[in-house]
Amino acid sequence: MDNVTVDLHRDQAIGETDPRLFGAFIEHLGRCVYGGIFEPGHPSADARGFRGDVLALVRELAPTIMRYPGGNFVSGYDWEDGVGPAASRPRRLDLAWMSTETNQFGTNEFIDWCRLAATEPMLAVNLGTRGADAARRLVEYCNHPGGTTLSDMRRAHGWEQPHGVRFWCLGNEMDGPWQMEAKTAQEYGRVATEAAKMMRWVDPSIELAACGSSGRNMPTFGAWEDTVLEHSFDHVEFISLHTYINNYAGDTAAFLASPDLMDTFIDEVVAIADAVAVRRGSGKRIMLSFDEWNVWYRTRRTAAARTKPGWPVAPGILEEIYNVEDALVFGGACISLLNHADRVRAGCLAQLVNVIAPIMTETGGPAWRQTIFHPFSHFSNFGRGRVLRTRIQSPTYAASYFDPRGAQDLRFALPEVPYLKIAAVHDEQAGVLTLFALNRNLTEEMTLAVNAGGYAGLSVERALQLHDADLAAVNTRVDPQRVRPAALAGVRTEGSRLEATLAPASWNVIRARVSR
Ligand code: AHR
Repeated sequence: MDNVTVDLHRDQAIGETDPRLFGAFIEHLGRCVYGGIFEPGHPSADARGFRGDVLALVRELAPTIMRYPGGNFVSGYDWEDGVGPAASRPRRLDLAWMSTETNQFGTNEFIDWCRLAATEPMLAVNLGTRGADAARRLVEYCNHPGGTTLSDMRRAHGWEQPHGVRFWCLGNEMDGPWQMEAKTAQEYGRVATEAAKMMRWVDPSIELAACGSSGRNMPTFGAWEDTVLEHSFDHVEFISLHTYINNYAGDTAAFLASPDLMDTFIDEVVAIADAVAVRRGSGKRIMLSFDEWNVWYRTRRTAAARTKPGWPVAPGILEEIYNVEDALVFGGACISLLNHADRVRAGCLAQLVNVIAPIMTETGGPAWRQTIFHPFSHFSNFGRGRVLRTRIQSPTYAASYFDPRGAQDLRFALPEVPYLKIAAVHDEQAGVLTLFALNRNLTEEMTLAVNAGGYAGLSVERALQLHDADLAAVNTRVDPQRVRPAALAGVRTEGSRLEATLAPASWNVIRARVSR
């Protein structure tokens, strides 16, 4: 049994979570769009072809912002292909995923779908095969009210009112050699700056995110952010981060420790962005958009999992099946994001349906929740509010995380990993303090004692736990509820002190009503 103490105080906050922290991502990739959110003829589909069963699960998951249309796909995408009468839209080869893109779903359908899903659209522009001109034209098509050829084209297509898309990504992973028309930091910094200028001239209300490195383990990480921000600092509000956590090594303890590297990554990008600000004598602070994050490794490295031969439409690729162990690590990543609420102001779980996703479907069949659905829905539904600083006294362990990127095999030493990873969020409106607690000890229970300063009293409203003796357990079409949270019994409070016993290898969410 581990004894762990956490001290926090109502008046000591890291920051308020931005509503955009709880986003997700839809790419034209595999069955994310076709057979995922959009499947005309499906028994649950509406007249527009939007699957109702998927929409119901999305509403439960509650993502607040949705990135679209890629991902690697966007770097070869002509947005004009996806608007106008569906029957006359072109079929194209997609070189990102070696598929055929039918363009039956495009920007306008995406906006309609977002409205139904009660989520804000986030659009990425193609800075690979296209550039600043196509980007500013897309902003005009989407956001200009009317009276110009492009805005009137949108109206003629059936969308009289402007879409009012606020958040725009300036390309995707432009540092990656796998990207169509990948760029050096100098090249990308220039094009991103010119695109940003023109896009904002079209609509001054938009917010812009420049591409950061496509991973912390890229050889150009650091130098890339520095150069890109040297160019674009005055023209963007955000820089992006991407992380896919793996367990190639089959080392569960290191896997559970690895979200701590997200904390490090965030701290490093903040330091670089602020160093650029200091060099310029600027008080402006660039915010972070963690616009791709998840666990992903089983369907990542092999060609067979990434592409199917014959240029198929909507092939079943990147359909990672998530188990209990993945859900725990995923919960750890949620905690990392919460604990940087001051600077990470947008985030997108990659992705939403079928492709490395919390929701799985069968084309023509049912939809169900993967294991990672549960921690995300807790994060999104209960993570709104002021994130409080926590001081943890916990036994620790040492881990070494293996991260093979390209030809390089990297190892990251994590010498002192606290068994407990925790975030505490105070929702002032609801009068509730939520604790998100991950017990990373694989064999020992944990007695958690939280001293919540500044509160007269706590009373437990709800407590949940995701724990399973079988870390490899998964949800499937035939057993969709095999892994789901259960009530966490025995949470005790006395005044402003809370005590709970957390099972080994468990994700726990405790909601306590607070009084002053
Ligand atoms: O999310 C899957 C892919 O991962 C995205 O297309 C790309 O941006 C990243 O490499």
